[in-house]
Amino acid sequence: MGQPTNRVFSGIQPTGNLHLGNYLGAIKKFVALQDSHECIYCVVDLHAVTAQLVQDDLKNQTREIAAAFIASGIDPAKHIVFNQSQVREHAELAWLFNCVARMGWLQRMTQFKDKAGKNAQNASVGLFAYPSLMAADILLYRATHVPVGDDQKQHLELTRDIAAKFNNDFAEKIKEFGHGDEGYFPITDPIIEGPATRVMSLRAGNNKMSKSEPSDMSRINLTDSADDIAKKIRKAKTDPEPLPDTMEGLAERPEAKNLVGIYAALSGQTSKAVVSEFAGQQFGTFKPALAELAVEKLAPINTEMRKLMDNPDHVDSILADGADRARVIAQQTMKEVREIFGFLG
Ligand code: AMP
Ligand code: TRP
Repeated sequence: MGQPTNRVFSGIQPTGNLHLGNYLGAIKKFVALQDSHECIYCVVDLHAVTAQLVQDDLKNQTREIAAAFIASGIDPAKHIVFNQSQVREHAELAWLFNCVARMGWLQRMTQFKDKAGKNAQNASVGLFAYPSLMAADILLYRATHVPVGDDQKQHLELTRDIAAKFNNDFAEKIKEFGHGDEGYFPITDPIIEGPATRVMSLRAGNNKMSKSEPSDMSRINLTDSADDIAKKIRKAKTDPEPLPDTMEGLAERPEAKNLVGIYAALSGQTSKAVVSEFAGQQFGTFKPALAELAVEKLAPINTEMRKLMDNPDHVDSILADGADRARVIAQQTMKEVREIFGFLG
């Protein structure tokens, strides 16, 4: 069986509020890829329980991510939108990938070190093995492209390492079963590009905008009202200088660079174009323009998300239908993978 050549897979965890970083770094790109690719977008609920075992209202958190996908413009009829735990094959392939991946590979993962913090001995085994599950998510569909924010780069390199080791270690069997000379799993390409691959906190330009940052003023949530968005941008930390006229002028100004990047991503321009447009202007002018743009782009998503969340049965039926369609692909892959491993039955 030939490999798909333009299949996209990506996932978002149903933990906490979705923010502007998730939207610009991931969801907006998911939307853009729909015309050119066959897309599979997943709410990764199995990942959600790795850091914190008992989740508050996991069902509604799962629906909320699905609602954000759809409200942002993902078409669940043309593409696949589902939640991970409904397709059991994710867990099965993740187990096998735990046996492909090496301890040393996982020990290098910086996200584990950040999330586990000082008390790594007390982190769950699931948190440590999380990148194997992520590789399974992607390779179960033999996806060729994965749009993500910059923080996922290392996990995608690990996914490539797992695919390459599997293809290499099982090369003979893969050929024997007629899966082609190019190997069974694709060496996936990350899609990490554009002006907002790493949106920073509005309060500290060297910290990533994140769900887990205690201060809500540090991020713009997709569920924020227009007033909250405007207030957070008005209060965003900046320096006293006007905007420069070249990109080099932003190099040592992380807060200014971040706001320019956000403006660029929201308006679909490059940061360079935004810098030329606002060269020499003060933040007193730039911030209201940014707030207006952010509200214009985010308010319709917010409204649509609320409508969807008022109808949870509808969202559930979209996820169940997506899971049915995902399962067809996943089961075929697992049948072939079991054959390659040589399991009986
Ligand atoms: P998570 O919320 O960790 O499940 O992340 C979901 C997606 O959003 C992933 O593709 C992340 O890389 C992306 N993402 C998270 N935070 C940011 C950020 N501050 N800037 C850009 N992308 C982000
Ligand atoms: N690890 C990703 C994150 O924290 C979420 C994720 C899980 C993912 N599986 C994936 C992203 C597969 C892309 C592809 O953001």
